[in-house]
Formats: sequence, structure tokens, C-alpha cells
Amino acid sequence: MNLTLKIWRQKDSKAKGAVETYPISDISPDSSFLEMLDVLNESLVLKGIVPVAFDHDCREGICGMCSLYINGEAHGPDRKVTTCQLHMRMFKDGDTITIEPFRSAGFPVVKDLVVDRSAFDKIQQAGGYVSVNTSGNTQDANAIPIPKRDADMAFDAATCIGCGACVATCKNGSAMLFVSAKVSQFSLLPQGKVEADRRALNMVGKMDELGFGNCTNTGACEVECPKGISLDNIARMNSDFLKASIISEEK
Ligand code: SF4
Ligand code: FES
Repeated sequence: MNLTLKIWRQKDSKAKGAVETYPISDISPDSSFLEMLDVLNESLVLKGIVPVAFDHDCREGICGMCSLYINGEAHGPDRKVTTCQLHMRMFKDGDTITIEPFRSAGFPVVKDLVVDRSAFDKIQQAGGYVSVNTSGNTQDANAIPIPKRDADMAFDAATCIGCGACVATCKNGSAMLFVSAKVSQFSLLPQGKVEADRRALNMVGKMDELGFGNCTNTGACEVECPKGISLDNIARMNSDFLKASIISEEK
């Protein structure tokens, strides 16, 4: 395949970026999108041009590092796949492909296509965990019966890989899908219910503090999410948050 790539280049977080155009040829339709960028970078290095910086790690849809906005869509034109799982056969020979970083006030650009998503770590640290009693009397988690439906919903929420596509695709820059998945993953299970109120208040509070927008039920996040995280999680988190707010006011 012969393609024209229009790529956002930005030297560092303070520099003014611009779109640069790079023709690329002989790309296999069976290669992944990131492999295509590897080929581009090898050719740029040979020409003495600084290669394009982009995030990646596992390259198998697990780590959530790859984060490209491709032809106006987070993770590109395929559905329920990450950028690293996107194949070049989704494009046609002769196509022009525009590649930008995930854009959001909460994700400042570090360089080229790399953004700083440490805001997600801060939200996780605000409550995305279960405090374990290590006194020696801790009940074996496997000995606590959990309804299959609850276990399935918790597991579905836990498949969120923290990629940030939901934020990048939301017109409000909202992180509600991500935060609600992390809140639901715990609040649906007995082990997580103990701290559910505090978790919902703290994680939503941190999300607001870090400048992410609110949810206006557009649903773009659910469409672009590579893991199919459901909007139901946002409804559940809103309910948990409301209940926790009332309880904390009464105290
Ligand atoms: S909810 Fe989906 S889009 Fe958002 S961070 Fe999790 S996996 Fe990525
Ligand atoms: S590189 Fe890990 S999910 Fe894409």
C-alpha cells in the first residue's frame, strides 16, 4: 500500500506544533498501524529526520499505552480495538491518513503523538483500590459467594485499560467512563462495597479537580472505547456518588 501520512509534530510540551506530511510506500495490509509507524520512523532516521514519538508497550490491546487519534477517531476506524490492534487493511491504497495525539485539557502533549495521562493515575490513587485487612484474620475472597451477574458486570468494568480514548473523544473532555469503570469494578463486589462511598466521592472529586469535564450523555465514549465499557457504569457511579454525598452531609 502507498499512503500519505499527515502527522502532528511537536518538539516538546511548550513548542507550537504543526502537521507534517510524509509519503510512505510498500506497506503490507497485514501489518499493524504501529508497525507502519515503525517503518516510517526507520525511513525518517535514514534521512536524518527525528522519528515520530508515539506511545506503545504491549502491542496486544492490554496496556492502554497506544493512544492515537486517526482520521478523527480515537484508535482509528475499527471498533473495539486499540491502535496497536488496528490493521492497515482497514485503509485503502492511496489513502491519506491524519494522525494526531489524544487531545484534552487533562492530557497535555509531551511530544509529537505522546500525551501525559498521569491524571488517570492520580484518579486511581484517590480510591481505585481495596484496602486489605492483613491482620491474619482476612477471609479468603474465594469463600465469599458472589452472584454470577455481579461478577460478570464487575469483570466487564475491570477490562478498562485506562487508554483515555473516552476522554479524547468526548466533546466535554469527560473522564466519566473511565472513572465509572474503576468505581464499578469494586463497588459491585462485596470486598469493594466497604469503601464504596469514600471511593466514589474521592475519585469523582479528583476527576473534577484535574479539569475533566462532565458527562452530557452523548455516548461517544462508549462507541470509541476499545473495551466496550458500557454507559451503564456512569449511571451506576452517579447513583453511588449521590448516595455517598447525602450520607456524608448527614454525618
Ligand atoms: S473506559 Fe474505555 S476508552 Fe476509557 S480508558 Fe477505559 S478502556 Fe479506554
Ligand atoms: S500498546 Fe498496549 S494496548 Fe496498545
